[in-house]
Amino acid sequence: MQLSSFSKAGHLVSLLNKGDFKILKVFASSLKNRQFLNLSTLSQYSDLNQSLIKHHLERLVKFGLIGKSTLGYTLLVTGLDIYVLKILANRNIITAIGPQIGIGKEAEVYLAHDSLEQDKILKMFRLGRSSFKQIKRKRDINTGVGNWLLLNIETAKKEFDILSYLRDFSSSFPKPLYRSFHCIVMEPIYGSRLSEVENIDNPQLVLERIIDSMRTAYQKGYVNGDLNEYNVLIDNDNIFILDWPQAIKVDTVNANTVLARDVKNILKFFSRRFEIDRDIQNTINTIKGPV
Ligand SMILES: Nc1ncnc2c1ncn2[C@@H]1O[C@H](COP(=O)(O)OP(=O)(O)OP(=O)(O)O)[C@@H](O)[C@H]1O
Ligand SMILES: [Mg+2]
Repeated sequence: MQLSSFSKAGHLVSLLNKGDFKILKVFASSLKNRQFLNLSTLSQYSDLNQSLIKHHLERLVKFGLIGKSTLGYTLLVTGLDIYVLKILANRNIITAIGPQIGIGKEAEVYLAHDSLEQDKILKMFRLGRSSFKQIKRKRDINTGVGNWLLLNIETAKKEFDILSYLRDFSSSFPKPLYRSFHCIVMEPIYGSRLSEVENIDNPQLVLERIIDSMRTAYQKGYVNGDLNEYNVLIDNDNIFILDWPQAIKVDTVNANTVLARDVKNILKFFSRRFEIDRDIQNTINTIKGPV
């Protein structure tokens, strides 16, 4: 079985030494300004001499964390993964990685432990995974993956900020704990995906709770934009709405269209699975209605 880039990163953390991390740090911190670094820039930004830098670069290239091209050296995806993992471990935020519990178009989600063996959730953004695979296949590191990494960092930041804001108003959104580069750490929710539950004691109540959470988000300024039975977790009758990186502000031009789509997705599911029919326009009005 091929290891995902993340499991490989977990293994590599233990193989790398201080100097390796120093070099990774220079790459990670200069991502925004330049994607390719050469020996002299690296020595400018680290306290290592050029021959030591060369030594560490060779190791990092061998491990597949740094790419080498005619333009210079560049940070690869696994390189940033491993750098973030090291930061999380140093801060006792995540010290062990468990099974992967979600793999979607946009992220890999893992169950993890902190230094007190408390469960945590680690979400690593992998936006545009397929185009990234193409980059890897062609082994075309001349273009670098820096822009792709920056996109994922921005997206992680967006979801973290929205969750931090919304969570103050309702516990039906995951509680975010920490963000580093393209990764966010959250409190775990012990529930099942709505799409997967066979039976619900009181589906009408569950539907009303989902609408109530959508209303809270809307009243505080956001429409989720990807709401469906896969992005709702349910634990007894409690519901949680996940997955906010694509959320839009209620004053965006297409907010009404996006909200209507979210509402339709949820109502369609409850109609199909539980034969509960709720009026679309009435539901939209409830969500948008006066506080
Ligand atoms: N805080 C959490 N607690 C428990 N499980 C979680 C949490 N966050 C995410 N998950 C699990 O990971 C899955 C994917 O998470 P999320 O929807 O946020 O990412 P995604 O990139 O949209 O993935 P997908 O495309 O599969 O929806 C969820 O369906 C859920 O099973
Ligand atoms: Mg999702």
